[in-house]
Amino acid sequence: MCGIVGAVAERNVVEILLEGLKRLEYRGYDSAGVALLSSEGDLTRIRRTGKVQELVDAVSEGHAVGATGIAHTRWATHGGVTEANAHPHCSTERIAVVHNGIIENYLALREKLTEKGYQFTSDTDTETIAHTVHEELKAGKSLLRAVQDSVTQFHGAYGTVIMDKEDPSRVVVARSGSPLVIGLGLGENFIASDQLALLPVTRRFIFLEEGDVAEVTRREVTIFDKNGEPVEREVVESNIEHDAGDKAGYRHYMLKEIHEQPTVVRNTLQHRLDEQGLLPDIFGKGADAILKDVKHVQIIACGTSYHAGMTARYWLEQYANVSCSVEIASEFRYRKSVVHENSLLVTISQSGETADTLAALRLAKDLGYMSSLTICNVPGSSLVRESDLAFMTRAGAEIGVASTKAFTTQLTAFLMLTLAIGEHKEMSGDDKQSIVKALHSLPAKLEETLLINEGIEDLAEEFADKNHSLFLGRGDQYPIAMEGALKLKEISYIHAEAYASGELKHGPLALIDEEMPVIVVAPNNELLEKLKSNVEEVRARGGIMYVFADKNAAFKGDESMRVVNVPHCEQPIAPIIYTLPLQLLSYHVALIKGTDVDQPRNLAKSVTVE
Ligand code: G6P
Repeated sequence: MCGIVGAVAERNVVEILLEGLKRLEYRGYDSAGVALLSSEGDLTRIRRTGKVQELVDAVSEGHAVGATGIAHTRWATHGGVTEANAHPHCSTERIAVVHNGIIENYLALREKLTEKGYQFTSDTDTETIAHTVHEELKAGKSLLRAVQDSVTQFHGAYGTVIMDKEDPSRVVVARSGSPLVIGLGLGENFIASDQLALLPVTRRFIFLEEGDVAEVTRREVTIFDKNGEPVEREVVESNIEHDAGDKAGYRHYMLKEIHEQPTVVRNTLQHRLDEQGLLPDIFGKGADAILKDVKHVQIIACGTSYHAGMTARYWLEQYANVSCSVEIASEFRYRKSVVHENSLLVTISQSGETADTLAALRLAKDLGYMSSLTICNVPGSSLVRESDLAFMTRAGAEIGVASTKAFTTQLTAFLMLTLAIGEHKEMSGDDKQSIVKALHSLPAKLEETLLINEGIEDLAEEFADKNHSLFLGRGDQYPIAMEGALKLKEISYIHAEAYASGELKHGPLALIDEEMPVIVVAPNNELLEKLKSNVEEVRARGGIMYVFADKNAAFKGDESMRVVNVPHCEQPIAPIIYTLPLQLLSYHVALIKGTDVDQPRNLAKSVTVE
């Protein structure tokens, strides 16, 4: 979704801003812009629809100089994808603003500001920020005071950076509902919506809290909390790798991230699991004392993270004997739900900033959950800061919009949570041993599974001209079939639906013909024979199947069935292993179709608005 970069320095910051925007491209956007203020107070603004490269080209054609600047990638919400709607937005060529989030009362503000004589040049909600601040400045206030008095008039969400042509020495930033981080340099300071944007220039960050307004100059950062009181915020040293944004020789980030899975899963397990089982308190300080009393687990998430939660439900109920419900955050937050006794709320999110998941967590705080745990990939993110307990997946920065390594590390975390809760329930010694053993074997098994890439490449050839597809799985592979279908639709734009294969007769069989490929996930488990019957049902109706099967499952390929053998693995980790061939299938189909693999149309990596 939208991305923000800002800088106050002595040098020309245009390259820093553009590099920052490039590093935020993965979040999804449809236009980009930059505004620069020179020390003489000249304001230059350049905006383009399309890729950041269009903006870079436009900047290189002109004379863009400024030691203070703001830049933005926009993912359209209010108003179409046009240059006029791209940020930064200005008020009377004095104020320039970039903004993430949505000002919900923008129509009322717009009316009021129009009456005062302001002329709007865009359809956006953001332009109301620029004019409101300008109006406040007219009363002779400082930029800081004007922003503080403006934000009280906004309803909705904002992460915003504002600069004033009449004072190029500073920018003012405000955060409510959309993350902002300040990067500390030597004699220069930076702002971004994601620390990744600033890694080339600093590793020292301050994460603003809800309601914070800060004034940033070259030498100073002064922060005020939601009550307007001066406040100190912790400076955090980032250990994210500087080159996290590089493709390391792979053609796409997605392919790189698929291949990183053995390593990042190994990292996620490291110092958390030994031969006997889990080490103490891996879910946070005091976690074991809380997990001991858990009688129910309520999981909340969106997108791919939701599929991780669905898989976890099978594990928690089967192995840990604890009841579990899973719900999409945008549903949970708007309905009345019943809280079970001693229920643990678990949110899952790769970004830690997904608006619906965060809102669900905040709502749940008043509902009587015994505690909240987040499984998240971004330290310092809002979910991590606002949850009682946090477990960090160590997937590293995930750039491809379609989530891959974040998902498999989430699943790894959930198997560990199953062990941690199961310890205190009636988990059998055999189950415990089998999960511990399976987790230890997981990184190597993932490596082995990646070797089937070639077979999948061939298969993708047959698949790529289809418009629809059906994914089938049973038990803990049903959510994996859902995730496989999501990957395919996200990056290849082929319509894909997933069904629990027992549901075939209740509708989807009507769709089967040779134009509707059916992808089957078939590990060698107790449901294999049932699954084989479902396969026969498809075959009898002339369907073409692509079966990902355990090599011991004795599927025989023929003209109606292509079989890809997946290495045999321990049962608890089978959902993680079978995820990989489905990721690779989507990737190769998208390659053949020539879609934008890393930045699929209309999608965003981090969905920070509702
Ligand atoms: C977006 C991303 C997905 C992700 C979902 C939830 O839709 O494109 O990859 O699964 O948001 O995001 P989260 O950061 O909460 O896991």
